[in-house]
Amino acid sequence: MSGGPLKDLGRVFDSVADAYDAGRPAYPDEMYRALSELSGVDLDGATTVDVGAGTGILTRALRARGAQVIAVDPGAEMLARLVSRAAGEGGEEGERGAPPPVAAVLADGNALPLADGVADLVTYAQSWHWLDPVVSIAEARRVLRPDGAIVGCWNLNHAAQADWLAAYEARLAEAVPTYWGPAVEEWSVPPIAAAFEVIEERWIPWTRLVGIEDFLLGLRSHSYMAAMSPQTADELVDRQRVELRKAFPEGLLSVPMRVYLAVGR
Ligand SMILES: C[S@@+](CC[C@H](N)C(=O)[O-])C[C@H]1O[C@@H](n2cnc3c(N)ncnc32)[C@H](O)[C@@H]1O
Repeated sequence: MSGGPLKDLGRVFDSVADAYDAGRPAYPDEMYRALSELSGVDLDGATTVDVGAGTGILTRALRARGAQVIAVDPGAEMLARLVSRAAGEGGEEGERGAPPPVAAVLADGNALPLADGVADLVTYAQSWHWLDPVVSIAEARRVLRPDGAIVGCWNLNHAAQADWLAAYEARLAEAVPTYWGPAVEEWSVPPIAAAFEVIEERWIPWTRLVGIEDFLLGLRSHSYMAAMSPQTADELVDRQRVELRKAFPEGLLSVPMRVYLAVGR
C-alpha cells in the first residue's frame, strides 16, 4: 500500500464507506444481460478489471455470474468492505457455488498496475467520471484483449417519473453547492460515449423498493455530502427525512431508477 496521491484519491469515499456499503443500490439483472449482449462478452469465465470498484457492488454481481474480477480502487476503506464481503460470499447473488477469490488492488485507474491484454472487460460502475477521461480509456485499452470491451454504467434516480423524487432532488440542488443531478437543467450523463468511435448505449429503467432510512444512508454516501460539514449534512438529511415521511408515512419508497449503460471498443 502506498500513501500520498493514492490516499488523496481515495479520501472522498473512504469517509463514507459504511454508508456507501449499506445505502447504495445494486444494478438490475437486466443490466448484466444488456452488458453481455452489447459487448459480445459472456460474463461466465470473463476476466474483468472493475475500476473504481468501491465496496464491490458491481464486482459481487459479476463474480456471481462467473466472472474473474480484478477490483481496482484507491480507497483503502472502500476496498476493505469489498474484500471482507467477498470473504463471506457463497454465491448468494447467483445460482452457482462460491466464486473464486477476488483480486483487490489499491491503485489509481489512470495507471493500472496490470499487464497488457489481460482482460475481456474493463468496467467503470459510477466511477469513470472520477478519472482522467483520456488517460483512463488509454489504460483500459492497454489492458484489454483485442476483442474486449469497455463498460461504463451509472445507476440514477429518474426524477422525471415521480413528483416526490423531483422535489427531493430540488431540495438537494438548493442545499448543496456542488450538486450535479436531474434538478439541474443542463445535467447529463458523464460523456464516456465521446471517447469511442463505436459505442452502444442503453437506458434500463427499474424500480428500487427501499426503506426511508436506507435511502437516506445512500444520500449520506454521496461525495457532495462527504464534502459538507457534519452539521450541515445532518440538517439536510433531517430535512429530507421529514419530507419523505410526510409523503410516505409507512416508511417505504418505490424509487423510479434508470441505469445508463455505455459499452465501447
Ligand atoms: C461512486 S463510487 C463507485 C463504486 C462502485 N463501482 C459502485 O458501483 O458502487 C466511485 C469510486 O471510484 C473510486 N475512484 C476515485 N478516483 C479513482 C481513480 N483515479 N481510479 C480508480 N478509482 C477511483 C472511488 O474511490 C470510489 O470507490
